[in-house]
Amino acid sequence: MSEGQVARASGRGKTVHGEAANAGHRVIAPDDAEVEAYLEVALDAPPPERALDDEPQTPDSVIVLDFGGQTAQLIARRVRELNVYSELLPFDTPWDEIQRRAPRAVILSGGPMSVYEDGAPHPDPQMWSGDGPGMPILGICYGLQLMAYHLGGNVVPATKREYGPAVISITTEDGLFSGIAPEQRVWMSHGDSILSPPEGFLPLARTASTPYAGLADPSRKMYGIQFHPEVVHTPAGRDILRNFVLGIAGAKPTWTPHSFIESTVAEIRARVGDGKVICALSGGVDSAVAATLVHRAVGDQLTCIYVDHGLMRKRESELLRETFEKNLGMNLVMVDARARFLARLAGVDDPEQKRKIIGDEFIRVFEEESAKIGQIDFLTQGTLYPDVIESATSETKAAQKIKTHHNVGGLPADLRFQLIEPLRYLFKDEVRLVGSELGLPESMVQRQPFPGPGLAIRIIGEVTAERLDTLREADWIVIDEVKAAGLYRQLWQSFAILTPVRSVGVMGDGRTYANVVAVRAVTSEDGMTADWAKLPYDVLGKISSRIVNEVPGVNRVVYDISSKPPATIEWE
Ligand code: XMP
Repeated sequence: MSEGQVARASGRGKTVHGEAANAGHRVIAPDDAEVEAYLEVALDAPPPERALDDEPQTPDSVIVLDFGGQTAQLIARRVRELNVYSELLPFDTPWDEIQRRAPRAVILSGGPMSVYEDGAPHPDPQMWSGDGPGMPILGICYGLQLMAYHLGGNVVPATKREYGPAVISITTEDGLFSGIAPEQRVWMSHGDSILSPPEGFLPLARTASTPYAGLADPSRKMYGIQFHPEVVHTPAGRDILRNFVLGIAGAKPTWTPHSFIESTVAEIRARVGDGKVICALSGGVDSAVAATLVHRAVGDQLTCIYVDHGLMRKRESELLRETFEKNLGMNLVMVDARARFLARLAGVDDPEQKRKIIGDEFIRVFEEESAKIGQIDFLTQGTLYPDVIESATSETKAAQKIKTHHNVGGLPADLRFQLIEPLRYLFKDEVRLVGSELGLPESMVQRQPFPGPGLAIRIIGEVTAERLDTLREADWIVIDEVKAAGLYRQLWQSFAILTPVRSVGVMGDGRTYANVVAVRAVTSEDGMTADWAKLPYDVLGKISSRIVNEVPGVNRVVYDISSKPPATIEWE
């Protein structure tokens, strides 16, 4: 890399890692995204292309059109839980494009607007144009109102949105409601109301407030429900979706981790040919699973690089070596860069400065290592489906965040290699299932997210070798006790922080003046918001007494009871 490129790369590093500490949403994808961004910058990789036309070859699928409902993604996940591949596409995807993909059915998601509102999302009108039985369509909430509105029913805008639990009485038990008890608790949500259904539609279910909680025109295979089957507050929701997807649409349930692995490995093999592939292992689950898939496909043509920056948790590097080198037999380049990182972090206590230095040093190490490998044709990334969806629809703030994170300020067009993203159609929980199916150890597949800058942002103040050792030991005890209590998987993250505070204590007959360690455990769906975890007192008690007894230089343990917002998950 030329000097100019290095300067540019460092500049980009600044954009990504140099946000204000109180930005509240520093990095949305906490797991491997950071390392990937480093690598992209280091090797001048392109931002992932989000072309609509490169979907995987799967036998049967269901398309979910996203009309802006908060649970649109959840619909796709529920369909996948039925072992049918499902993808979420923008509401205005052309009907021709949908037909080209040949799904077994289309589901129209809910959405926050009224069909009459200016700017309300409407699908391609071609969707409604067929007379006879076409592709089965299921409208959910807003999706049902759209269906009723476009097919000539009488839909009136409501003054107030009805939202919350309700009970439906099923009046027609076959088809959508086949095998489902007649009285059902459901989660309702509608703004508009259907006064009369379109011609040919029959009511399937009612509530106290609407005679049209479910509608169908079986001759045209059009169905609609006024409630959310995808949320847990609708206990029979899964059965209703099963009736639609497997029954009415006749989709075959063949989407399994096993079939995913087989088809993905075959695709990678065909694409890579005899090319050379590189993958950065971060210690996180996404890069681990992505690398393992590529390794299955092309074996020794893959080289994994792991930069040990010395900011990892206890035994992390050993686990990585054991899993990838010893057990899976991969080409693994482990770069011991601990001294370099420590030297650059000396005397630095500003969190964003730490992030910037770590990002910068990563880039340098990668430049050196990739130069040693020589010609590289492909870079493997662990991009997940939510990133792909968000980049494709560009609607949410989160999507913008991902974009800034990945694009890192306009990468050059003269790309040196192509991206392989074997996980780009998977949700996080599916990645874990695939990881288990691939035989990766539980400790790797089920791990909690860990930030790219590692323990450096959990040592408040200067990072030194001694303080890293202290924190590593304390952190190990936290994880050990959380696991022993069977709580590890319920928590988004649980860890220790080494505070800059020293406090007075007594040990034996002597007075101590030593470090205060803080313990943090949070529950969260996605890291954007979080609650402090109500850990049982006896677990907290064990953590505390073990830390003060087993970790030299610590005499006090405190528990962080702040939620996000207004606090963040990490302390720096
Ligand atoms: P905060 O502290 O912003 O963290 O509430 C939200 C999630 O992001 C992770 N995090 C990071 N991940 N590089 C990363 O790769 C970072 O600089 C970084 N800062 C925070 C954090 O662990 C949590 O899961």
